[in-house]
Amino acid sequence: MKQVLVTGGMGFIGSHTVVSLMEAGFRPVIFDNLCNSSESVLEGIARITGVKPLFIRGDVTSAADLKALFTSHNIDAVIHFAALKAVGESSEKPLEYYRNNIGGLICLLEAMQEHGVRDVVFSSSATVYGSAAHMPVDEDTPLPAAMSPYGSTKQMGERILFDTGSFRSVCLRYFNPIGAHPSGHIGELPLGVPNNLVPYVTQAAAGLRKALTIFGDDYHTPDGTAVRDYLHVMDLAEAHVAALNRLQQVQDRPHWEVFNLGTGNPVSVKTLVETFERVNGVPVPKVMGARRQGDVPELWANPGRAKQVLGWTAKHSLEEMLRDAWNWQQKLAQ
Ligand code: NAD
Ligand code: UFG
Repeated sequence: MKQVLVTGGMGFIGSHTVVSLMEAGFRPVIFDNLCNSSESVLEGIARITGVKPLFIRGDVTSAADLKALFTSHNIDAVIHFAALKAVGESSEKPLEYYRNNIGGLICLLEAMQEHGVRDVVFSSSATVYGSAAHMPVDEDTPLPAAMSPYGSTKQMGERILFDTGSFRSVCLRYFNPIGAHPSGHIGELPLGVPNNLVPYVTQAAAGLRKALTIFGDDYHTPDGTAVRDYLHVMDLAEAHVAALNRLQQVQDRPHWEVFNLGTGNPVSVKTLVETFERVNGVPVPKVMGARRQGDVPELWANPGRAKQVLGWTAKHSLEEMLRDAWNWQQKLAQ
């Protein structure tokens, strides 16, 4: 059974991926400093899988923490989620973002090199495409200058892996992951006021926020609101298993590969909110507001390469994503 280091494995996407890894027969080792997560996530994973995964508290920017980890565990491959991810905050604290996201990646790769570990899956983001001219975007779309320090850390992260030919890497460009495990035992835990649409919607529906502000209804899109590609976090989790299997099983692949992970279905903010209300039978208090600075009008994926090469496609519908997101919000309140 392969042992996989999962940095940031206590977070939103990491915790769901740990469940999928365990179900696929991998042994995950979670490494997280808990700066944006809580140890209670372990209980949730154990309730789903019946086994509490191994958790080591540590920081990917600390060579000492990583050394202790790699010397005490036989690691076969790494999935690197650990990063700071708030786009707006990254403009206020760029050094913190570069230190954590770039410093952390370099520190991790050095530790991997020292211990002879070559396979790595890297969490990238659709934000690398910025305001692309043609939809849907595929992986050959040229990348513009990043729109934020956060976006820049994802472009640089991909580039660092490309330049370091001694590693075998898969970069996964996530579009908009939402939802939660259908059991409601794990989900997204935004600290403070949520930045992202769906956690805001669920909190507004639960009465924890006065009203959702829809950021802009004057875009050149079918209903005037911005369009994204939302995918279920469990589909995203499965893509990591597929990426890992490719790294471990296919020897004659390029040393660096990149894949879009999305459904390929464009969904507007208005459609998402209406769908949430319909499937869950709860109203979402909402007001129209101005555009949010830095938002692109539309961004959705051509996920064809992931289908062709990884054999992965997103399976869950928007309705399932929003039902599971609401189920999680309600469990949180209990
Ligand atoms: P998250 O904040 O829920 O999870 C990240 C985890 O990493 C947290 O548990 C946090 O405590 C940990 N962490 C952060 N810095 C660390 C450090 N220095 N050392 C150890 N642990 C550290 O975020 P998420 O939504 O699960 O995102 C996971 C990855 O996916 C990130 O790299 C993020 O940039 C990327 N991503 C997320 C989205 C999204 O919409 N959620 C979209 C595109 C890409
Ligand atoms: N939105 C609102 N009101 C809110 C929050 C969001 O109307 O309270 C709108 C946004 O303006 C946007 C859409 O909902 O049009 C989606 O917004 P999110 O913040 O959920 O997602 P983004 O597409 O802006 O950004 C997300 C991640 C980034 C990542 C990017 C990649 O947050 O980290 O996807 O596409 F880089």
